[in-house]
Order: sequence, then structure tokens, then C-alpha cells
Amino acid sequence: MAKENCEVMTYSDISAKTRLILPQDLSFAVDMLKHGGVVAIPTETVYGLAANALDDEAVRKIFIAKGRPTDNPLILHISLFQEIYDLVSHVPSSAKKLADAFWPGPLTLVLRRSSVIGDNVTASLDTVAVRMPCHNIARKIIRECGFPLAAPSANLSGSPSPTTAQHVMRDLNGKIDAVVDGGECSVGLESTVVYLCDERPRLLRPGGITISQIESVVGKVDIDDAVSGEKMYCGKASSPGMKYKHYSPKADVTLVIGPSSEYVDFVNEKAKCKKNVGALCFDEEAEKINAVTVPYGRKLHYQEQAQKLFSSLRKFDLLDVNEVFAHCDYNDEVALAIYNRLIRAACFKVVRL
Ligand code: TXA
Ligand code: MG
Repeated sequence: MAKENCEVMTYSDISAKTRLILPQDLSFAVDMLKHGGVVAIPTETVYGLAANALDDEAVRKIFIAKGRPTDNPLILHISLFQEIYDLVSHVPSSAKKLADAFWPGPLTLVLRRSSVIGDNVTASLDTVAVRMPCHNIARKIIRECGFPLAAPSANLSGSPSPTTAQHVMRDLNGKIDAVVDGGECSVGLESTVVYLCDERPRLLRPGGITISQIESVVGKVDIDDAVSGEKMYCGKASSPGMKYKHYSPKADVTLVIGPSSEYVDFVNEKAKCKKNVGALCFDEEAEKINAVTVPYGRKLHYQEQAQKLFSSLRKFDLLDVNEVFAHCDYNDEVALAIYNRLIRAACFKVVRL
């Protein structure tokens, strides 16, 4: 972790009880946000922990509730494209083209920030991350608030991102004002993050929008070292959130890459000599494995795997498992985003078969 400006705030006394809000009662959520509250809201990617991005005290509560290091900046969520002009100092043509193609949707653009944005939202960077979610509930809440919402994923820092209101409750009950229950998130992984302040766009975090989709709109995209790296990133990260161990269940995770039959043999060998072994596997592999299995989708069906990944990782916390072998593919489609999350869950421990 970088030394500068990265203390972890501790939870004090934000809210004793967290209210569960149904989609028909959104006015409660809007009211809480207008009064400086922190409210978890559904988006198409994962649940976000939202607060008024222009209210320093409200933003501070997000960091406290999550136990998030203060050097990790937040994404601002808007409901209309023109709202971006207040938040950034310049909108390059690449931003317009990408927004045209993929907004509303799971794509975050990093641009030079304007003076209305506080240092705590951006962790004192001179850039700000902006996205327009396509989830109806999220957009309605942003629209009715009338200000941008700062919202990181609504999990405790380090644990898997939440894809249901119940996941949020498990992590943050009693620490935030409310959770809006919008059911399961459809994408299941956080947005793709693209840096647009250099000549060429640079991918900071892979997500549901793939590199080839982005390249089809703006041409060649660079991949940040922190995305392609196979080690915990210790330098000054372009996207600070990517340098932390993240997404982990309580059990130790090892990422395994290779053909199905070899993965099955590998886990079965491990299970012969160790107790409490778990396998995060593809559906077709589950019945061949002699250990606790959590299947997370069919082979090669990356969108299905992405949608189930975080809830599957969370399942291991409810099972009697202390070591998990997670199988995934590696390519530049949505599989890259899955690999990117799992390698962090595994703290960069990888076995290639
Ligand atoms: O899908 C998503 O993006 C979800 C939903 C709630 O919108 N949000 C989310 O936020 O994943 P969070 O805070 O969990 O992840 C945001 C990532 C972090 O890796 C952070 O470091 C990076 O975006 N980020 C935020 N602002 C940045 C900036 N100005 N420059 C570079 N990276 C930035
Ligand atoms: Mg997060």
C-alpha cells in the first residue's frame, strides 16, 4: 500500500439500524440521500454504496462504513450525459463516442476533474471517474436526487462485491442508513474503467464491456500494467483499487488455469490429502470433483460466469471450507474481467496446468 494518504477510517456511529427499502418506496432513499445519508442501491453491475458526491461529510461516511482506504477514489454516477460537464474540465471526443456507444451501461470513464469535485471523492487525484448506470432504479434515484452520487461497490473493503441486497446487509447492516432491494444484478461484475486523459485510451479495470468493444469505437486501447500484472501491484497504481487484495472469501483461494480434465484431477488429488477443500468450478465439472463444489456457470459462458462469480465466492463463507481452488479461463473477452477479480481473490496465487 502506498504510504501517502491511505489511512483506513474506523466505523463510529453512522447509523444503528439499516432499513430495507422496496423499489416502490424509492422516495425514502432519495430523502435519506438528500439529507446526507448513505444508501446502498442496485445497479446493473453490483450494488453501490451511494452518497451525495458534492457533500464531503456524506462521502466520508462511505469510506467509514466500508473500511475503505482513503487513497482509493470513488466513481460518480450520473443519469444524463450533460451532467458530465459540471464534473470534468474537458470532455474529449473519445468520451463522447464511448458514452454514445455504451451509456447508460457498465463503463466508467476517467477524465480531468473540475473544481466542484472534492479531494476526498478523488483521493486528491486530478482526475475523476464517471459512469451512467443503466439500472432503472439507480437512474431514477440519481435523477430525483438532482446531484451526482458517489458510489463504490457496497461491500466491506476486501470482500466480494455484492450482487444482491442480502449480500449488502451481510456486510453493512447497522453501518449504513438503508439498502434498496432491486433483486439480483444482471452483469454481476463491476464496470469496465477506461482512462481518457492521455492520447490513447487505457484500460484500468476490465469488466462487462470488453476491450474489443471499446476498440471498435475508439481504436487501439492500452492495457494498464496493473491489469495485465501477475503480482500484487506495489507502485503508484493508475487505478488505486486494483492494487489491493480484494473479493476474497474467508478461505484461502488459489486460481487454477488449464483444461477441465486436468483441473478436476488436480482438485481431487488435493482433496485426497487435505480436508475442507472447495472447488469454484464450471457446471460441467462439479459432479466429477470429490470436494465441496460451487459451480458458477457453464464452460465458455462468460457472461453467465460473471453474473454468478461474486455470489459464488460468498457461498464459501457459509460452507466448511478453508481452501478454495478456483478454475477460470484467460482471454480478452469477459473472461479477462473474471480472471482479474479471481487473481485478486487469490492474492495472485496462480497454478497453470
Ligand atoms: O460497476 C461499478 O463500477 C460499481 C457500481 C456501484 O457502479 N462501482 C465500483 O466502485 O466498482 P469501486 O469503488 O468498488 O471501484 C472503483 C474503481 C476502483 O478501482 C478505483 O480505484 C477506480 O475505480 N477509480 C475511481 N476513481 C478513479 C480515478 N480518478 N482514476 C483512476 N481510477 C479510479
Ligand atoms: Mg469495489
